Amino acid sequence: MKVSYDFSGKVAVVTGSATGIGHAIAMEFAKAGADIAVCDYNEEKGKATVEEIKALGRKSAFYKCDVSKDEDVAAMKEGVLKEFGTVDFLLSNAGVSYGYKPDKTPCLGPPFTNVLVSDWERMFDINLFGMVRVIQAFYDIFKEKKEGKIVCTASIAAFESTSLQPQYNASKAGVINLVQSVSTDLGAYNVNVNAICPGFVYTPMYEHGAQGFKDLRPQFFADTNDPKSIMMKLAVNMSSLHRAQAPEDLANAALFLCSDAAKEITGQYVCVDSGIVRR
Ligand SMILES: NC(=O)c1ccc[n+]([C@@H]2O[C@H](COP(=O)([O-])OP(=O)(O)OC[C@H]3O[C@@H](n4cnc5c(N)ncnc54)[C@H](O)[C@@H]3O)[C@@H](O)[C@H]2O)c1
Repeated sequence: MKVSYDFSGKVAVVTGSATGIGHAIAMEFAKAGADIAVCDYNEEKGKATVEEIKALGRKSAFYKCDVSKDEDVAAMKEGVLKEFGTVDFLLSNAGVSYGYKPDKTPCLGPPFTNVLVSDWERMFDINLFGMVRVIQAFYDIFKEKKEGKIVCTASIAAFESTSLQPQYNASKAGVINLVQSVSTDLGAYNVNVNAICPGFVYTPMYEHGAQGFKDLRPQFFADTNDPKSIMMKLAVNMSSLHRAQAPEDLANAALFLCSDAAKEITGQYVCVDSGIVRR
């Protein structure tokens, strides 16, 4: 059974929509009739996403925006309001996994001491403070409209920690708490604020990131060096349904949370992980 949504006339701002889950969210919201502001620091792929959306007959524009930079987020907000006039849905999705040190080596544990405070700071500036920045940028618009939806992309890493990337796990736990805090604040203005938590979705994030999992448990992954196979093995072994998710599975959760069907759901997180986090 296919569920369809009608978001005609609505404007969605999607950060991190050049690739992966954000790209799928942008495309699925466009298919549901929304106009889409594509925000990303990847200009080439972001502009390509805009062309795909326009081909569906929707309005779309690209905003080159690094969510870790105040000035980029402020310029993005101004551009969106000038072009689209408003925002109905804010999909705050941009994020990175472990990240790299200035010398280009990955910021991975164990040991815990390998991930320096400066590595934590860079991670938090994108994954957590980036979401704070974009929510604050559009806060007054939602407050004045007295309606709207915000969906932040967190992760099952908020709940299922490993020693591999403690800074990532904590940044995503912060996103869950951010959503809860903002939902109590914007709830006074009829705005719903929720999180979606992907489990294992094969996106560009895993093209480099999967190797870290292999380094952590080399015997378990002895049979493969392929990033997709490494990720699939984790997904199959850890989840109740023994499978990974597609980017569209996350987009489906975001569509639902932005629909009237979810109007009484706020301050929540939805794990789209084929059954890894169970609580
Ligand atoms: N893929 C997974 O299995 C998985 C699991 C849990 C959580 N997530 C989360 O899902 C979100 C999307 O990740 P993805 O898997 O689609 O990876 P991805 O790398 O394909 O997408 C991330 C997007 O964010 C953009 N981005 C990164 N840093 C940015 C910044 N500072 N400013 C603006 N744009 C920036 C990238 O250019 C990219 O387009 C992330 O928040 C990630 O942490 C993914």
